[in-house]
Amino acid sequence: MGTNVTGFCTKIKERTAKVGVIGLGYVGLPLALLSAGEGFDTTGFDIDPGKMEKIRKGESYINHIPAASIRKAIEKQHFQATDDFTRLKEMDAIIICVPTPLGKHGEPDLSFVHNTAEAVGAHLQPGQLIVLESTTYPGTTDEEVLLVLERGGLRCPVSPYTTDGVTVTASDGGEPDFFLAFSPEREDPGNKQFQTRQVPKIVGALNAPSALAAQALYQSFFERTHMVSSSRAAEMAKLLENIYRCVNIALVNELKLVCLRMDIDIWEVIEAAKTKPFGFSAFYPGPGLGGHCIPIDPFYLTWKAREYELPTRFIELAGEINTAMPHHVVNSVTAALGQQGKTLQGSRVLVLGVAYKKDIDDVRESPALKILELLAANGAVVAYHDPFVPRLKKMRRYDLGLESVPLTAETLRAHECALIVTDHSGVDYDRVVNESPLVVDTRNATSRVRHHREKIVRC
Ligand SMILES: NC(=O)c1ccc[n+]([C@@H]2O[C@H](COP(=O)([O-])OP(=O)(O)OC[C@H]3O[C@@H](n4cnc5c(N)ncnc54)[C@H](O)[C@@H]3O)[C@@H](O)[C@H]2O)c1
Repeated sequence: MGTNVTGFCTKIKERTAKVGVIGLGYVGLPLALLSAGEGFDTTGFDIDPGKMEKIRKGESYINHIPAASIRKAIEKQHFQATDDFTRLKEMDAIIICVPTPLGKHGEPDLSFVHNTAEAVGAHLQPGQLIVLESTTYPGTTDEEVLLVLERGGLRCPVSPYTTDGVTVTASDGGEPDFFLAFSPEREDPGNKQFQTRQVPKIVGALNAPSALAAQALYQSFFERTHMVSSSRAAEMAKLLENIYRCVNIALVNELKLVCLRMDIDIWEVIEAAKTKPFGFSAFYPGPGLGGHCIPIDPFYLTWKAREYELPTRFIELAGEINTAMPHHVVNSVTAALGQQGKTLQGSRVLVLGVAYKKDIDDVRESPALKILELLAANGAVVAYHDPFVPRLKKMRRYDLGLESVPLTAETLRAHECALIVTDHSGVDYDRVVNESPLVVDTRNATSRVRHHREKIVRC
């Protein structure tokens, strides 16, 4: 059969292409709004009826995405959400943004990607572009997703092409029946410095026509695309970015422990090192890793590397150090209470901030959850305050059953220890230190507090 990529690119150029985004979470929803904002008729697909309902009502379920932007896209008739996957056949381009978590034993859980590929495969049309954005190990797109999509008889052969990052040169002239590519998501929720469209988009595909089709699509949403010569290179590039963060965070976490023992302020050290204008990027210590990406993605590579009989020692070591951080925090709270002649057993500990990073509402893999669990397991009476997280809903690993308490002077005074786990900007840390008998700070949030510094313990 074969599909001519020029026709696809013309539809993109003329904004007559219909774009489907599967998985309307932290990644998919902003991407769908970006597509709609560019004038594409955009349909979001999700299996979560609650999210579909909210979108239909023009409401947002992600703190940093204003409801107004959803309403605007709907009113302009560029955006709609559905759980009717038969409508996938109407789409010209389908972008997959579903979760890629780890299973019970730390192995990649590709079930969401597989289920989605099945749904796409059931309605696959000649000439459609399918792009996977979910973070995963090299080989997912051209082995696993391709296998499912080709079951219906349409073909997208893996065929080498070359690129200098901008232009794409085919080694042979074959046209696939559909186009398949991988383009890693680089969303950084809450980042006010860079908007989604300003972050260059890496694109790698199975063959030159797929690369050109995906490039055309993303060039219309993003200021810059960077082409690589295969879907595997694009998958690996995303892992490199996240492994780089994971390993460097582990490094500063380890150095923090050394600094604490040597009575050196690690934060001052980092500020000093940062003044070097080349060869140094600052990473900061904290209570442990959080979020859907950094604690998880590196282990996708560890798993895949085993197939090639190769260890990934940096990743394993970084995992070990970062996983130990919540335990270090709880030990520090115990020691700090001990200094005041108190025990953790029976003490009331108020955790400040449970989102995995400041000023967002995402608690996935947040170290605060582990810390709350460890504190409670050791007999502490725990509570938390987080302006972004009104309650901790049941999750796969945690069922803490807690609701955020108001941050009043009475609350602070009623707790033996305030433990800063996430340094949300809106919290008045002067007041926290003023009213609390003891403050354990994992984020240097109290660096500017002038009074009662004797109550602050850094950890
Ligand atoms: N959150 C981030 O900051 C971020 C950044 C970069 C990359 N990523 C990667 O992007 C991917 C998505 O992450 P996210 O944070 O948006 O996840 P998310 O959990 O916020 O959203 C995923 C959405 O997919 C939906 N879904 C699950 N299975 C589905 C199916 N079979 N069909 C349709 N919808 C389905 C869920 O209901 C949910 O709404 C992951 O691979 C993640 O690693 C995330």
